[in-house]
Amino acid sequence: MYRSKNPYRPIRTEVLAVVEETPNIKTLRLKPEESISFETGQFVEMTVPGVGESPFTPSSRPSEKETLEVSVMRVGKVTEIIHNLKAGDVVGLRGPFGTGYPMEDFKGKEILVVGGGCGFAPLRSLMYEFFHRSGEYKKLLFRGGCKTPEDFLYKKEIGEWAKRDDLDVVLTVDKGNGDWTGNVGVVTTILDELDLDKPRAIGIVCGPPVMMKFATLKLLDQGFKREHIYLSMEKNMSCGFGKCGHCRIGTYYACKDGPVFRFDKISDFPNIWD
Ligand SMILES: Cc1cc2nc3c(=O)[nH]c(=O)nc-3n(C[C@H](O)[C@H](O)[C@H](O)COP(=O)(O)OP(=O)(O)OC[C@H]3O[C@@H](n4cnc5c(N)ncnc54)[C@H](O)[C@@H]3O)c2cc1C
Ligand code: FES
Repeated sequence: MYRSKNPYRPIRTEVLAVVEETPNIKTLRLKPEESISFETGQFVEMTVPGVGESPFTPSSRPSEKETLEVSVMRVGKVTEIIHNLKAGDVVGLRGPFGTGYPMEDFKGKEILVVGGGCGFAPLRSLMYEFFHRSGEYKKLLFRGGCKTPEDFLYKKEIGEWAKRDDLDVVLTVDKGNGDWTGNVGVVTTILDELDLDKPRAIGIVCGPPVMMKFATLKLLDQGFKREHIYLSMEKNMSCGFGKCGHCRIGTYYACKDGPVFRFDKISDFPNIWD
């Protein structure tokens, strides 16, 4: 739900810090002039004056009201300019937009979170929320994959997650290096042995479309129910709040009804993975 009076008006936002996470992903800590209070899984539109606008899902704690973080992969015109921003620079932010993760529906459940590449960004915010609510769910598993060990976002932090008693973490890479002692193979290769009550467990998948497709098929194959799988769908967006029609998925608008969708709601629409 958008809370500001004029959803087209970007809020003046200062870049407080920039962290280089991987060769092509940077995390920006941002301070909007008016606080932007988001729910995990919702997104914001970032305006770079004179260049354009792009949607990003905050990767920080929803409970932090004064600042937020976005992790941005360099893929084109807008993200290239964002990668050149420095502390003190100014951008615009609109939002939050869309429907995030239904945290109440996860209460009392066993939960598997599956992330790939830049999908770790929204999932970090979600994991913070799970940690904040530790005790509300039965079991929490995180399975994540990247192309190489260098491509993992939040390396140090995920190392800390792995030490938690309330979380089971397994990571994989498509291609290892000399230091990598973990699994080698695409993310579906670490979804075979899951100690979960699969017909009742929740599966949350976020990453590039091809990864989401094969991870979802794998979860279905493992006995997960369609209505227990949640996907974060990244369609091309413009307005961000259901007016322009750019982001249609069947009868839904990804910006308003999503970006988080339960798989059974969208599984019958054509081309959902494009
Ligand atoms: C709800 C939502 C949340 C997002 N969250 C994040 C995030 O947290 N971090 C992040 O790095 N990216 C995120 N994205 C993707 C990001 O918005 C795009 O990568 C960005 O808009 C590309 O802009 P550009 O001008 O740099 O690239 P362009 O020059 O427009 O495009 C360059 C390449 O990127 C592809 N591309 C453009 N837009 C998208 C898109 N929406 N999804 C997939 N590929 C795209 C194009 O097809 C093209 O191949 C999100 C997208 C959506 C819809
Ligand atoms: S982005 Fe305009 S309707 Fe969804």
